[in-house]
Amino acid sequence: MTILLSPGPVPVLEEIAKAQTKEMITHRSDEFSALYRDLVTRLRGYFGAEEAYVITGSGALGLETLALNLCERNDRVLCLPNGEFGDHLVTTVQVYAQPLPHRGADGSGWDLERTKAKIDASDAKVLAMVYNETSMGVRNHIKEICRYAKSKGMLTIIDGISAWPGTEFDMKAFHVDAFVTGSQKGIAAPPGMALIGLSKEAVERFSKRDSIPSYYCDLRRHKKRYEKDQQTPNTPAISLFWALQKAFDVLDRQGGLPACVKRHADAAAYTRKRLTAMGFPLIAEKGFESNTVTGFVCRDGEQAKRIKSTLAKEYGIKIVGSRGTFKDTGLRIAHMGNFDMKNIEKCLDAIEKIMK
Ligand SMILES: Cc1ncc(COP(=O)(O)O)c(C=O)c1O
Repeated sequence: MTILLSPGPVPVLEEIAKAQTKEMITHRSDEFSALYRDLVTRLRGYFGAEEAYVITGSGALGLETLALNLCERNDRVLCLPNGEFGDHLVTTVQVYAQPLPHRGADGSGWDLERTKAKIDASDAKVLAMVYNETSMGVRNHIKEICRYAKSKGMLTIIDGISAWPGTEFDMKAFHVDAFVTGSQKGIAAPPGMALIGLSKEAVERFSKRDSIPSYYCDLRRHKKRYEKDQQTPNTPAISLFWALQKAFDVLDRQGGLPACVKRHADAAAYTRKRLTAMGFPLIAEKGFESNTVTGFVCRDGEQAKRIKSTLAKEYGIKIVGSRGTFKDTGLRIAHMGNFDMKNIEKCLDAIEKIMK
């Protein structure tokens, strides 16, 4: 069997995969209401959110849902991309509002010191950025940035797709108004669900709008239906919802969010230590290293290709390349979801052997 160490989709535990095979129910039933109520209640607790919804669709649909419900056509939106997913966020915002992007270099991170003047100089109503830039393995310091942006009256939207639940997060403590993650990432369910969290201010903002440029993603419809009978406005991916419920059970059983963050942080530290000892520079700037994925730089494109293909062919280990500046020379090892530490060790041992 392949050892999949990609930063999503990640391997799915058998008990989570099996939960999908339950007998089908209709989404207009008390049984579905109980399921969705449980997911939403638990998500509100995990995120520290006023409201939470599960949208059937990938993470990008969840992000688009936040943008189109919370940004209006003439709103200026300060964006701080520093990698491929930050760039995609700008493109998403562009469809519905006016992005004001400041591009950070690939591998560099955003902290308050680097963003303060940009926030001060902008008349943007909204700040939108990525928490964990998956393409580089960079963790931006959103807690400090969002606290400052909120003190300036901005609404804060965070793409936490590859961050949660392996990275510290709480909407209230982080001053985040809207947050999204994807089911195929750290929560380690199958792909196909976007989990979104909203603050009171975000709920007020979309609730008072006269029109929203979407039917399926109009959160007013999701809110209204949830308040009526804890159901979704359209037919959701019911089987996936069962799997998500099981993934939440696993998270709780393993000690909840603090234990999950620690497990990811420990695996990330171990991975960095081993790679550094082998002489690989890391892609992430010091102080901005991701908990869920580590990017490292090979001597040249040939070496990167050799490591990746030998891992696949001789060890059955699948890792992925980086993007942008590090497209040819960068590789990434994910330690995301319900990973087995033995597999991370196996991968690093194999790289060490390949290098000899
Ligand atoms: C940070 C980030 N944002 C957005 C996405 C897009 O998510 P999806 O492919 O689920 O639409 C990804 C996927 O890897 C991601 O890592």
